[in-house]
Amino acid sequence: MRGHSDELLPDHRQGEALVSEAPEAVRSVFIESYGCQMNFSDSEIVAGILAKEGYGTTRDLEKADLVLLNTCSIRDKAEQTIRNRLKHFQSIKAHKPHMVVGLLGCMAERLKHDLLEQEKLVDLVVGPDAYRELPHLLEEIGGGRKAVNVLLSKEETYGDLNPVRLGSNGVTAFVSITRGCDNMCSFCVVPFTRGRERSRNPQTILDEVRSLRDQGYREVTLLGQNVDSYLWYGGGPKKDFAKASAMAQASAVGFASLLRQVAEAVPEMRIRFSTSNPQDMHDDVLYAIAKYPNLCKSIHLPVQSGSSRILKAMNRGHDREDYLARIERIRRILPEVALSMDMIAGFPGETEEDHAETLSLMEAVRYHFGFMFYYSERPGTHAARTLVDDIPLEVKKRRLNEIIELQQRHSLERNQAEVGRVVEVLIEGDSKRSEHHWTSRTTQNTVVVFPKLPGQKPGDLVWVAIEDCSAATLLGQTAARS
Ligand code: SAH
Ligand code: F3S
Repeated sequence: MRGHSDELLPDHRQGEALVSEAPEAVRSVFIESYGCQMNFSDSEIVAGILAKEGYGTTRDLEKADLVLLNTCSIRDKAEQTIRNRLKHFQSIKAHKPHMVVGLLGCMAERLKHDLLEQEKLVDLVVGPDAYRELPHLLEEIGGGRKAVNVLLSKEETYGDLNPVRLGSNGVTAFVSITRGCDNMCSFCVVPFTRGRERSRNPQTILDEVRSLRDQGYREVTLLGQNVDSYLWYGGGPKKDFAKASAMAQASAVGFASLLRQVAEAVPEMRIRFSTSNPQDMHDDVLYAIAKYPNLCKSIHLPVQSGSSRILKAMNRGHDREDYLARIERIRRILPEVALSMDMIAGFPGETEEDHAETLSLMEAVRYHFGFMFYYSERPGTHAARTLVDDIPLEVKKRRLNEIIELQQRHSLERNQAEVGRVVEVLIEGDSKRSEHHWTSRTTQNTVVVFPKLPGQKPGDLVWVAIEDCSAATLLGQTAARS
């Protein structure tokens, strides 16, 4: 099971120092990233901007001229972690005074005053839409000033920039296609920290994907807070589409069309995307996935609750019935698809009946995996301003545990159903536990671990006979094509 209680990404990726080799670099930057895939992708954009300034990346804090923390503010716990990290950096700075420490990402706006002026834990604060300004801001610091830019933009997509792939396995990569979010789910801080939704020019997406292919990558994940809402009409925020010229509107590119273009541009690559939104996903996307074998048969479709009453209070654009109707369409058009979700336990006002509806929705869908959280009030959100965070922590945790246990059972059952089958997998690299085994994924995004054979290498598509499983992993042996 990929789900876990408290973080967005598997633990080993949290706070990972990301590197790429750049032997000719004259200065070194240490970048540590927290939170969602989007943040990891942003760190690659930042590394790309800094590479042009002569910075290579390093995993060694002692060698770094510049230390950057790319932060997440989706839940409360992250903030304390960041403060502790910044204090640690200060202790290093004590014997390395020239080292510059910067805060990037979603915490920038809210914490800029505290961290820069009061606690003096950082020299630099840069919000998610201001990374292009980094070279200029670093110059200001060189002149002895503190530097800050947290302005959000209606246009910035970094579409023309070349990201530097960090911590890469050389096989899979992220490509961001939209920024920001207009959905305004009442619990969520993203629309405030990352601004209005805007889409990236499809030509630059196709160029980046082709360039990844030419470098030997075999899989891309197209990223956005709400990929189904992708809409290119020449630039600018999605909400201004109605004001665009008739010609711009007529030639607009939506998500299904983008998916088709990418699938056709790189037929030898696998294509994934994240995240889908129930109210914005339409059948045209499902038909595209059905048509192209290289579009992976896996959909991440967050639901957040199984209770229509709570979904309304969450300002989700769908109720339980809408969601289940969407699932039915997906299953009809894509019978092989694996579904995953995000779920929140203990939203304000959630009763035991609401919670039971969450469990019953999970029984109805039987997800392959999920990311599961308990509600964490975020300052400034609609829920924080209008609702009381009234579910006691121990109740939130108990409900979350029930959700996790049920998901674990479903993940195990889904995996058990694969035992005895022969599946096609893309080899990603050495398995975490043994250098004699590969780790790989099926089109459904399930991890498959199997013993290496001579001649196999990362990036190969091979067939594996599944012999055993846990809730998280399938185990097998290389097989002849099924
Ligand atoms: N659409 C986005 C969602 C970003 S937030 C995406 O691309 O994934 C990821 C998940 O964090 C949400 O789906 C939600 O389940 C969880 N989350 C967001 N705000 C939260 C909060 N205040 N408390 C608990 N979980 C939250
Ligand atoms: Fe957040 Fe809802 Fe957008 S969860 S990122 S406001 S789709």
